[in-house]
Amino acid sequence: MAMAVSLMRSLLASIGEKQPLTHVRGSDGLAQQPNRSPERKRVGLFLCLHLLTAAALLAQSPKYGVGRAPTAEEIRQWSISVRPDGKGLPAGSGTAAAGKETYANRCARCHGAHGEGRDSVPLAGGVGSLTTPTPLKTVASYWPYATTLFDYVNRAMPFDKPGTLTTNQVYDLTAYVLFLGGIIPENAVIDKDSLPKVQMPNRAGFVSDPRPDTGGKKK
Ligand code: HEC
Repeated sequence: MAMAVSLMRSLLASIGEKQPLTHVRGSDGLAQQPNRSPERKRVGLFLCLHLLTAAALLAQSPKYGVGRAPTAEEIRQWSISVRPDGKGLPAGSGTAAAGKETYANRCARCHGAHGEGRDSVPLAGGVGSLTTPTPLKTVASYWPYATTLFDYVNRAMPFDKPGTLTTNQVYDLTAYVLFLGGIIPENAVIDKDSLPKVQMPNRAGFVSDPRPDTGGKKK
């Protein structure tokens, strides 16, 4: 170990000395100061040695033998994300008509009989209000993708008992919340093909982020 450190030390020192002093251009087009002051070199060396020590310690850590590889079934249960384009939506279907009763039993207590929000946030209403002095953000007025509604309810609702709804109940409730928002009719069948096609009222209300690292485009 001591030998490795001293070898590393002399290696780093020689690299530091022999590198030519060139100007580097930053991505913003401005010339940067060459990074060769003795002070900075010392800091760099210090960091390198620290990393080396950390790596050596890590290699010596005991193996505790805890944990195991997850089973395929466990991965299937965790892997429930639904993307905006609908990728990840499971097989199954539902309608608002079928979801009415489940909503009354499992959701209305907190969100109100018509999604107006009782003890919790409202789920419907407020469409067109976002640009007024009294904006009301709900699933109906604000959310850009209907698919997110499935993901959210499936993952997190009912608030006090998440994970207790069947896939078809989640489809029914998704349809019911969309129906409460006046977005789909009561008997429209919602499944992995039709849900991504539901046009949310505020879909065009978002602008993409033009900063270079986001991949968004300027409008
Ligand atoms: C015990 C109270 C409770 C119950 C029951 C409940 N919710 Fe919720 N719900 C909440 C709370 C609290 C939030 C806000 C959570 C947050 O913002 O972190 C929420 C948020 C939501 C949202 C997101 C709203 C938004 O605009 O952010 C949806 C959609 C939703 N609930 C649907 C349902 C559905 C469908 C059911 C019935 C299966 C249900 N909830 C049952 C308390 C509840």
